[in-house]
Amino acid sequence: MSPPSATAVFLVLTLEPGGATVAREVLGEIEGLTRSFGFGHPEGRLTCVAGIGATAWEPLYGSPRPAALRPFRELAGPRHRAPATPGDLLLHLRAERPDLCFALAAELVRRLGDAARVQDEVQTFTYYDSRNLLGFVDGTENPVGDLAADTALVGEEDPVFAGGSYVVVQKYLHDMDAWGKLGTEEQERVVGRTKQTNLELTDAPGSHVDLNTLTGPDGSELRVLRAAMPFGRPGHGEFGTYFVVYARDPEVPATMLRRMFLGTDGAAGPDPILDFSRAVTGTAFFAPSARFLREASAA
Ligand code: HEM
Repeated sequence: MSPPSATAVFLVLTLEPGGATVAREVLGEIEGLTRSFGFGHPEGRLTCVAGIGATAWEPLYGSPRPAALRPFRELAGPRHRAPATPGDLLLHLRAERPDLCFALAAELVRRLGDAARVQDEVQTFTYYDSRNLLGFVDGTENPVGDLAADTALVGEEDPVFAGGSYVVVQKYLHDMDAWGKLGTEEQERVVGRTKQTNLELTDAPGSHVDLNTLTGPDGSELRVLRAAMPFGRPGHGEFGTYFVVYARDPEVPATMLRRMFLGTDGAAGPDPILDFSRAVTGTAFFAPSARFLREASAA
């Protein structure tokens, strides 16, 4: 998952009635297709992760099912809402070159044909030194190496689904005018890090970083793996962050979202970043290992 890729495409689709057989076949072909499209261009680092939503699991793969797979639950806070929107399948394509993502996405959509309907498609890009469109470096505190795998991948707790990951995606649109009216120091207190030098502030209670710093019962930090990417159409006034998070335990990002949108038992929140960022989609998936997808489509 890390380091961040130069470009990513996100496709969220719903299954059409009777589409499960074709969709299962196509999902099983992703590994080989990614190899075919990426083979001559190793520097392009083309990858594609597929996620399956809770209600699509049964028609696609029956049982057993990933133990913690649930639909995304809408959150309605005092000031902000995180809507739940339709989504049975997620395709998260990443590469150093937009053409590789484009070509693979086009082939996958073509093969899915009438089996699935595209609900949302967003082409995203890395902006300067991994900044979001609010101007802050995004992704710094992501775990790397073994810790990233341990954070994102299901292990022995659910052996059939080991190597898979729970995924949440949300599309956010930013109010750039309102954000631009804040001074840099105020923006830094919203995020909880400095803008230019990307250092964590030690005294920013209630900031985005503060609300998302969680510790478990044993005092260790509860982590997730994020791969959020900017997108937009300046000519349409659209400036956004496509948020995606991978977790071994989906309760961790769910807790973060509750803290952001609902606050923390009256002590802090909701998250001030939401005054400038509106969630317009929300979907949850389980991304099985490539091996699971391959074997399930051959069965
Ligand atoms: C508009 C949407 C969002 C924006 C623009 C945004 C931006 C940022 C930025 C700039 C940072 C600091 C640098 C870093 O460590 O990455 C950060 C940290 C973080 N964000 Fe977000 N974020 C958004 C949504 C979310 C959501 C929905 C979640 C959780 C479900 C989340 C979880 C986190 C976590 C866990 C951290 C690291 C906290 C730490 O320092 O340990 N973010 N985010």
